[in-house]
Amino acid sequence: FNSFGFQYDLLDWYYENKRNLPWRESQDPYKVWVSEIMLQQTKVDTVIPYFERFLTKFPTVYDLAKADEQDVLKTWEGLGYYSRARNLQSAVKEVVEKYGGKIPDTPDELGSLKGVGPYTKGAILSIAYNQPEPAVDGNVMRVFSRVLKIEEDIAKAKTKKTFESVVREVISKEDPSSFNQAIMDLGATICTPTSPACLLCPVQEYCRAFAEGVQEDLPIKTKA
Ligand code: ADE
Repeated sequence: FNSFGFQYDLLDWYYENKRNLPWRESQDPYKVWVSEIMLQQTKVDTVIPYFERFLTKFPTVYDLAKADEQDVLKTWEGLGYYSRARNLQSAVKEVVEKYGGKIPDTPDELGSLKGVGPYTKGAILSIAYNQPEPAVDGNVMRVFSRVLKIEEDIAKAKTKKTFESVVREVISKEDPSSFNQAIMDLGATICTPTSPACLLCPVQEYCRAFAEGVQEDLPIKTKA
């Protein structure tokens, strides 16, 4: 597998086709964090207006840290999974108290914050801090299960580790931020769960599933 060719063609496509999303207007780690928490259980189109309102109301970690919890929850109203908002505020308070308001840039410190699991940690480290760290969710597993024809069951918890290792190997060391976001866009717009648009795919030539005509059979997922 030619990682350099894959990175080049993927990034070339991303620079030309990236979706204009409000959290992509800067690499502010706070904005990246808020967006990734919102995007975990909610679709991009739904998140956009909530993200805009949330950032208008709580533009910095300091504003969120000192806000009234009821006010935070009210701003979150409609997004659901309210523990996301509670954990986010509690973690942001820790950032202000323990780290002087600077969102940590190490895996251990970030990962110790409330609500920051492996996915969110990797997303912040890569997207905001340009570190070559994996941020593996279902979309990322779908893309790489097809490209590399990985037949592990994505319903199994340990399969995520396989994909984290894969991403560590193939991620662009020059632009890990764009690489991870490019995979997200590819998964959302081209390498979709059903009827993927392989004929439009910028990395079709690297895709083992496409070569063998099995793209619709991957990823393998046992339990619903
Ligand atoms: N889904 C999860 N994170 C995303 C991001 N940063 N951009 C677009 N879609 C996403």
